[in-house]
Amino acid sequence: MSAGILDGKALAAKMKEEIRAESAKLPRQPGLAVILVGDNGASQVYVRNKVKDCSDCGIACFDYHLPADTSLEQLLTLVEELNGRDDVDGILCQLPLPAHLPQTPVLEAISPDKDVDAFHPENMGKILRGDARYLPCTPGGIVELLREQGIDPAGKHCVVVGRSNIVGKPMALLLLQQNATVTVCHSRTPDLKAECLRADILVAAVGKENLITADMVKEGAVVIDVAMNRNAAGKLCGDVDYTAVAEKASYITPVPGGVGPMTRAMLMANTLTAAKYRQSK
Ligand code: GUN
Repeated sequence: MSAGILDGKALAAKMKEEIRAESAKLPRQPGLAVILVGDNGASQVYVRNKVKDCSDCGIACFDYHLPADTSLEQLLTLVEELNGRDDVDGILCQLPLPAHLPQTPVLEAISPDKDVDAFHPENMGKILRGDARYLPCTPGGIVELLREQGIDPAGKHCVVVGRSNIVGKPMALLLLQQNATVTVCHSRTPDLKAECLRADILVAAVGKENLITADMVKEGAVVIDVAMNRNAAGKLCGDVDYTAVAEKASYITPVPGGVGPMTRAMLMANTLTAAKYRQSK
């Protein structure tokens, strides 16, 4: 079998068109503030892409690039200012922060109404309870990608490899909410291969090239690769040995062009949701 491709790039482009049309109907243009502290190269690329997405979607982008030695107090002052601004519907602080800045007080300072990443404990609690206001961007994008292809997680065995707060944990919760049976694997899982072989839907979100090889994948499984690694030749790759796994899977996401564009489209969708919510108050 050669797997069908779950084309995140194409679906994200379609979603962004719809978001642009919806944005244009609002009395006030939606606005997203993006904060980047320091000079992490990957973060700079991610932020540049988000700025472009805003422009594609008719969303105003307020781009704050702060020096690496920014203090916690300075960062919290900016977040407070953005919380109070009428033209800012969403606030995103790009992670990771420089080592001297603790993440928790920053993420907790962002108003839950404007927390389009869904990282605030109030929004994470809503995800846990099953009534999320904002879907977390990467897991939410994966749910949309599956839905578009008509793949229903209900009754399936889903295995999520990775337990981060950004991807693994919320991914498991969203799949559970869709009536899947979910296993979460991590670095202390004794037999990763045995767990993965049970997956009807396998989500890999670790950041380790070739972690998932063809012998770990059940014939006909759906394989979702969240990771964005660079191999020795400097080429982008995920956690999955793509060429060999594509011979066994029924569907697979490419890297790049799979989950990444969907994450970005979900951020735009959440910003639109935030704008609609604030303009209806
Ligand atoms: N760093 C890596 N992924 C993300 C994300 O989804 N949101 C933010 N704010 N930072 C990230």
